[in-house]
Amino acid sequence: MSAHGLPAPKGGTLTGCLFDLDGVLVDTAKYHYLAWREIAGELGFAFTEKDNERLKGVSRMRSLDILLEIGGLSMDGGAKARLAERKNAVYLQYVLKMRPNEVLPGAREFLADCRSRGLKVALVSASKNATKILDLLGLTSLFDVIVDGNQVAEAKPDPEVFLTAARALGLHPRNCIVFEDAEAGIEGAIAAGMVSVGVGSSAILKKANIVVAGLRDLSVKALVETLEHLPDRHVPAATPTFNSAAKP
Ligand code: BG6
Ligand code: MG
Repeated sequence: MSAHGLPAPKGGTLTGCLFDLDGVLVDTAKYHYLAWREIAGELGFAFTEKDNERLKGVSRMRSLDILLEIGGLSMDGGAKARLAERKNAVYLQYVLKMRPNEVLPGAREFLADCRSRGLKVALVSASKNATKILDLLGLTSLFDVIVDGNQVAEAKPDPEVFLTAARALGLHPRNCIVFEDAEAGIEGAIAAGMVSVGVGSSAILKKANIVVAGLRDLSVKALVETLEHLPDRHVPAATPTFNSAAKP
């Protein structure tokens, strides 16, 4: 049993929950898609929801590179910077109209459930708009630690954002679980040596340990019970050493 009275999951006692933002806690993934689709339209090519899966979880500039690759275009750094800025302006037009009821169903309750059970809670987002969105939706106070795209050099699937959050919480990666809607995020969690919950489609999030359609389908108690029954093969094998693996 762990300190907070819940059974320990295989691979370590669960003490920290690390949440992605876009598509896990808030319904902003659709706004990223709409903004990139508008940019693609301006550049003269179509951009589908299937294409958009490749952009989920990755940084703004990496997203632009993938978009240009899809459109078969190349451009210099200055033009790319202007385009990324334009995409963000379009995106923010949507985001600034968001209201607290656009927090995804069950997300606020799940975060509160974690906290009431004494689990540490971190945000692990690639977005440079994360703190703005959390404030706008009244979620900031539910986090012990916030790590976003302004604080990390390497984008998911690199494990940097997860290891930085674990270190800030003072927890070993093996005691952390990651909630992600993007394939790149699940891969980053695995690289960090953490167990993961895919939030979305199991057809896409094949590498996650557990997949749920949304956080409203889960309680912390049910999650820990499920972790107890995970076959050993699902527990990430490569657990990095906490102090040396986490970057400053
Ligand atoms: C991630 C999204 O959370 O943040 C990506 O899944 C997005 O689609 C990335 O590109 C960066 O976001 P922002 O807000 O800094 O452009
Ligand atoms: Mg996401």
